[in-house]
Amino acid sequence: MSKTPQFPPLPALNDVLAATNPSSEALSFLANRRSTPIKCLTAPGPDEATLESILQIASRVPDHRKLEPWRFIVIQGDARKSTGETLAKIKHKKCPNLSVSELDEEKSRFTRTPVCIAVVSSPDPSHKTPVWEQELSAGALCMNLLLTANAAGWAGAWLTEWYAFDADFHAEMGLSDTEKFAGFIYLGTAMQNPPERPRPNISTKIKYQK
Ligand SMILES: Cc1cc2nc3c(=O)[nH]c(=O)nc-3n(C[C@H](O)[C@H](O)[C@H](O)COP(=O)(O)O)c2cc1C
Repeated sequence: MSKTPQFPPLPALNDVLAATNPSSEALSFLANRRSTPIKCLTAPGPDEATLESILQIASRVPDHRKLEPWRFIVIQGDARKSTGETLAKIKHKKCPNLSVSELDEEKSRFTRTPVCIAVVSSPDPSHKTPVWEQELSAGALCMNLLLTANAAGWAGAWLTEWYAFDADFHAEMGLSDTEKFAGFIYLGTAMQNPPERPRPNISTKIKYQK
């Protein structure tokens, strides 16, 4: 049984698109959006075809000079266990005194949800578009991925944790020297709905230049 709503047709190149889409439903969706804590995520998750549709929509992000400076590594099925074992090996090499339960925690990182999408920031440092802008596009993609997944009926969280910044894990996952993990988007089904968390008083964040 699929809980995913039907995906809309995608526009073709040069189709004229609406500049705005006024929608109370879309505003309410954004106003009430929340990540789901990873401990509240469980199976099922989206299948490959659904995930591909989600990624297709999510990748419609601003991207200065159309460099597409990102890519995805989808960790699913048996790869969740083997990638966790890789993490445990790396951690053990750095901290030989880790307890069995600490190693088990590493082994089980990717089995916490049915699927995890590693969003890799893949900038071209030789391009005149600054790397920072290329990296921002990858960040926008992470957020869009969460939004698209939520709209498709899947709960999720954007995590980095220690392994996002670990050179040995980068090498194991095939990242080049200039690539970084923008985030690990863990997706699944929410066991319970998350309560609202504290939000900024937005007026303290705004300076009006008059
Ligand atoms: C780049 C990035 C990395 C994050 N990494 C972690 C993490 O490693 N562990 C964690 O508990 N939360 C992490 N978070 C925060 C979670 O995504 C958190 O659940 C989220 O900010 C909750 O807020 P929301 O409901 O408004 O999405 C990260 C957030 C961002 C943007």
